[in-house]
Amino acid sequence: MRVSIVHPGAGELKYEIRGIVEFAKKLEKTGLPIVWENIGDPVAKGEEVPLWVREMVSKETLDSSESYGYSATKGVDETREYLSAIRTKEVGQELKPENIIFFNGLGDAITKTYTWLNPIARVLGPSPAYPTHSSVEGAHGRSRHLTYDLDSDNGWLPDMEDIRNKVTYNPQIAALLIINPDNPTGAVYPKEILEEFVSIALEFDLFLIADEIYANLAFEKEAFCSLAELSNGIPTIVMRGLSKEVPWPGSRCGWLEFYNIDADPDFRAYVKSIEEAKMTEVCSTTLPQTVLPKILGDSRYPDHLERRRKLYAERAETVQKILGNCAALRVVKPKGAFYQTVAFSEDFVKQPFVLPAANPEAQHLLDTELAAIEPGNFDKRFCYMLLAATGICTVPLTSGFNSHIPGFRITLLENNPQIFEKTLNSIVSVVTR
Ligand SMILES: Cc1ncc(COP(=O)(O)O)c(C=O)c1O
Repeated sequence: MRVSIVHPGAGELKYEIRGIVEFAKKLEKTGLPIVWENIGDPVAKGEEVPLWVREMVSKETLDSSESYGYSATKGVDETREYLSAIRTKEVGQELKPENIIFFNGLGDAITKTYTWLNPIARVLGPSPAYPTHSSVEGAHGRSRHLTYDLDSDNGWLPDMEDIRNKVTYNPQIAALLIINPDNPTGAVYPKEILEEFVSIALEFDLFLIADEIYANLAFEKEAFCSLAELSNGIPTIVMRGLSKEVPWPGSRCGWLEFYNIDADPDFRAYVKSIEEAKMTEVCSTTLPQTVLPKILGDSRYPDHLERRRKLYAERAETVQKILGNCAALRVVKPKGAFYQTVAFSEDFVKQPFVLPAANPEAQHLLDTELAAIEPGNFDKRFCYMLLAATGICTVPLTSGFNSHIPGFRITLLENNPQIFEKTLNSIVSVVTR
């Protein structure tokens, strides 16, 4: 090409959660049944969307043509007014309807958040990290995403000293990112931790980003505190969406809430650029927005969420029971969302690990994949071997979640208890061979 057409940050874009699927599909063709433990989609794992929700969506599409049209650029007015009222009450500081913008899924919102940030301004995020944040932020800054450690010996809570040091010695850090409840660790951050984030932001003149897509899936409802409850006076972006809690990931409906926009003229200009960018796209999908207040405001919704919270908490107990005593693995019981991070013990990663594939054709495919994975990438090699041997499709922590702690992530989404226990027992037998 006359000029290089590759974006300088393109090398940072990685989404192993789906990357491993290509290999799994090839293995499936060899006759190996796949247990999909890689994707956080409750619907794909067989969870029924309640009939009353489906009836509401269906009614919306039948009763009028409104949801077939474009909506306002920032989102359907009535829906933003609805969210403004409930969120203002919940967090105790004003969220005006004009400070809410809808996107085509929170993934889209995350991309816009980083894309419209000055490339020299960096966001410090957690490690392990949900890869859309780490990849897109890295691509925006044209180098590796800067991370702070989540401490596996302390319930995967953020290492606040590490954050303070990174902020002190990296003057390009303009914001702190929190994912709460967290993907992949399932940690739910106590108020005191959030207060520390607020105090660091205040001290170093930073803004805050909180991805709260799992807000209503903290197993103990009261344990969750929205960052907006504590960040009064500090420019803050809260990220929310319908994918996980309805669940309705196919709706592609997520939104950004902007708090304290006027606290800083630079933040105001940045928010304005996100709004202008949205305008060039006209609007986001209308249907989920029009039906959102009806679903979230329905008297059956709180019970629906409670039932799901209980279900995931019970499955987290099952994981603890089966994997918890395994010397090769370190599991911290999650407190929210629907994932389980499984880290390897230090001894386990020191041993050579080889696992034969389930059949000769699968072995051939595995050998080809392994030849392309660096010998030192222990957990990726483990996940590919596990997949080829047992059909269990997990996501490695280091390459999948930008982590320096090796391990893998499974979900708490398997609806069939026998299959779930069988999966966990297969993992135990593989690591105790
Ligand atoms: C922490 C987190 N944020 C955002 C998203 C993206 O959600 P959406 O389906 O709305 O794009 C996910 C999806 O897994 C997630 O885990």
